[in-house]
Amino acid sequence: MFDINNILRENIKRLVPYSSARDEYQGEASVFLDANENAFGSPLDQQFNRYPDPLQYDLKKRITEIKGVPPRNIFIGNGSDEAIDILFRSFCNPGVDNVILVPPTYGMYEVSANINDIEARKVNLTEDYQLNLEGIAEAIDKNTKLIFICSPNNPTGNSINRDDIQTLLANFKGIVVVDEAYINFSRQKSFIQELTECANLVVMQTLSKAWGLAGLRVGMAFASEEIIEVMNKVKPPYNVNESSQQLALAALANVGQVNEWIKETLAQRDRLVLQLKEFDFVVDIYPSDANFILVKTTNANGIYDYLVKQGIIVRNRSKVELCEGCLRITVGTPEENTILLEALQNFK
Ligand SMILES: Cc1ncc(COP(=O)(O)O)c(C=O)c1O
Repeated sequence: MFDINNILRENIKRLVPYSSARDEYQGEASVFLDANENAFGSPLDQQFNRYPDPLQYDLKKRITEIKGVPPRNIFIGNGSDEAIDILFRSFCNPGVDNVILVPPTYGMYEVSANINDIEARKVNLTEDYQLNLEGIAEAIDKNTKLIFICSPNNPTGNSINRDDIQTLLANFKGIVVVDEAYINFSRQKSFIQELTECANLVVMQTLSKAWGLAGLRVGMAFASEEIIEVMNKVKPPYNVNESSQQLALAALANVGQVNEWIKETLAQRDRLVLQLKEFDFVVDIYPSDANFILVKTTNANGIYDYLVKQGIIVRNRSKVELCEGCLRITVGTPEENTILLEALQNFK
């Protein structure tokens, strides 16, 4: 049985969180002289002189309408990168604890582990980019606090077998983090539905990908109330700024537009796969459930440098273990994809 008290850091158990002016008074007063703000306003058309809502309640209410998850089970971070860091700071004792990573995967898990002085135990994905469950079981010890699974996975693009993630959730005494940054492009169901059953599950999503808001830095973690309470206690008080909260809320009214873009992205992904296959320097294209494709080539560095000269930037992943020879290509607009394909036609 998962017990949060078995994995929470002792200093975090004892932590008395910062109490902001907005935590101490939340009513509808007319004169706010409690937070040392500039009472005159902002030198802008829009006013930002007041601190934002520390718990982003309006934004959470809207996310609840879309995702069906109550606000008490939602954490909002300055990008999901902040949620990753907060999980380390809440649950992992520096220099003592470890986490399991399953490369090739999203690079920030390891960077966050290094920043927090936490050992990152790597258990490579199998040749078909699925979990090596036996390897993971062997790597786990009493100090293993978190397992990070990215599904659909960056940079490989595939979804991780649902049953394998369920096996981890059922057997691991720490937290399984399922990073669903690319879930809107996937054929797979989100793990959000499993939250009521799994006390040790954290699902991460972001507004940076399908929602087109990478510049606002808004990421979400969904989990049990007790995990969310810890994350809220550890986060900086005003971690999501007022402008991002307002703009994200406005954007979340436009679900229809986002669904259109997702459809178009998937159609363009199919088109890229079909046309890239025709090039003799393309060895393989891995099945993708995301808005990018991983393409194995005969000459990744040569193609990458050539494309840079044409003003086209893709991601060279050829030095990553299990991605030798690979470029990761984000699906662009139809026009951008045409430019890419035409440029590749002239590659020698
Ligand atoms: C798998 C994965 N998780 C998280 C992130 C970061 O998301 P955010 O912009 O919300 O910090 C990325 C960005 O590339 C990603 O690929």
